Amino acid sequence: MSSGTVGIDRHADEAADLQSFYDVRRSYEDNYREGPFGAFAEFSAAHPEEAVENTVETPYEFLGQHLRTPFGIPAGPLLNSAFTDAAFDMGFDICVYKTVRSRAWECNPFPNVLAVHPKSSDGFLEPGGLESEEGVLADDRYERPISISNSFGVPSRDPDVWQPDMQRAMSHAGIGQLLIGSFQGSRVSGMDTMRYIQDHVDTASLLAETGVKVIEMNTSCPNEGKHRLLCDDPALVGRICEAVKNRIGDIPLIVKLAYIPDDRFLDRLVEATVAHGVVQGLATINTISARLVDSQGRQALPGEGRDRSGVCGNAIRPSGLDMVARLDAMRSRRDLDFSIVGVGGVLDAEDFAEYRRAGSDAVMSATGAMWDPMLGRRVANALGR
Ligand SMILES: Cc1cc2nc3c(=O)[nH]c(=O)nc-3n(C[C@H](O)[C@H](O)[C@H](O)COP(=O)(O)O)c2cc1C
Repeated sequence: MSSGTVGIDRHADEAADLQSFYDVRRSYEDNYREGPFGAFAEFSAAHPEEAVENTVETPYEFLGQHLRTPFGIPAGPLLNSAFTDAAFDMGFDICVYKTVRSRAWECNPFPNVLAVHPKSSDGFLEPGGLESEEGVLADDRYERPISISNSFGVPSRDPDVWQPDMQRAMSHAGIGQLLIGSFQGSRVSGMDTMRYIQDHVDTASLLAETGVKVIEMNTSCPNEGKHRLLCDDPALVGRICEAVKNRIGDIPLIVKLAYIPDDRFLDRLVEATVAHGVVQGLATINTISARLVDSQGRQALPGEGRDRSGVCGNAIRPSGLDMVARLDAMRSRRDLDFSIVGVGGVLDAEDFAEYRRAGSDAVMSATGAMWDPMLGRRVANALGR
């Protein structure tokens, strides 16, 4: 794995108030109804006239859209249009509306986020390494450079709620800004493969009805039951993508992938998705699974099936960069035309630049942006915007 060159020192900047726009000390429902919080909400409310002006240049092209910057927030932290409005105002030019489903879906019990402290001096976590298997310390001490674990279970409102809200979210995007709709299939008990595929098609269809310009399909959360990911099955991913693309027509389709260590396996996923033009982009990575323990070595998140959870933020940046670089190499070697969205541990403008150098067409930050509402502006400044 190519390692990230950025370590603890550059990110251990002045001890800013570590308040996230998604308040990890409140329930998901409270966040949905009352969020966003902290400077993210305050700035946008107090300085509406300073919200990113719409007279800016849009020199970046991404999946047919002209963008002010190729930077934004991936699926997850932007729960609804109140969050995406604030994110657009704060200069995050690509906002992914939180992953939705074909039906209402409950959130995992509180707490849903913990701070994570890998032992290595740079704070990085090796996927499948000893620490991920034996236990990484997780608690409520949030510090820079920030790494967290999130355990939500991909909750969703009913389509009757998220469809009009997604339309509201889109209407707030300025020139050079893009709202992406993310979805995933829902495997419920007794559902056979055909009905599971159909659930993806139906949900993509509901998204297409909103008029959203780009659709992302998440194959990298445990949508297949406990700890099982859809992207572990490239043949099924291929069947689903084909069925979804048949339904959504010209709307560009992105597939969100987990970290995949094996090149041959990754090649099979490339073959099943972007190689034949069914899929136009790959977004990667999602969180990296690890066993979470408290300071006594006990399971950190309460409840059955929550011994392992997904780690994101600083800890996973080398893995994200590694996936992007390997996908970029495959793209060149096979002479393929698709977009790469680099995600994982982007905490500042230099991380953004590193992902661009690795081959990302667009870059996104979830954990970094949650704890740094000015990150969009910093990236824009670094690009001279
Ligand atoms: C609070 C939170 C919720 C998330 N929910 C989703 C989700 O619903 N769908 C999805 O595809 N990824 C989800 N993710 C994963 C992120 O999109 C991203 O892939 C991952 O966090 C790595 O990026 P980061 O290191 O910048 O956080 C979530 C991440 C966070 C922090």
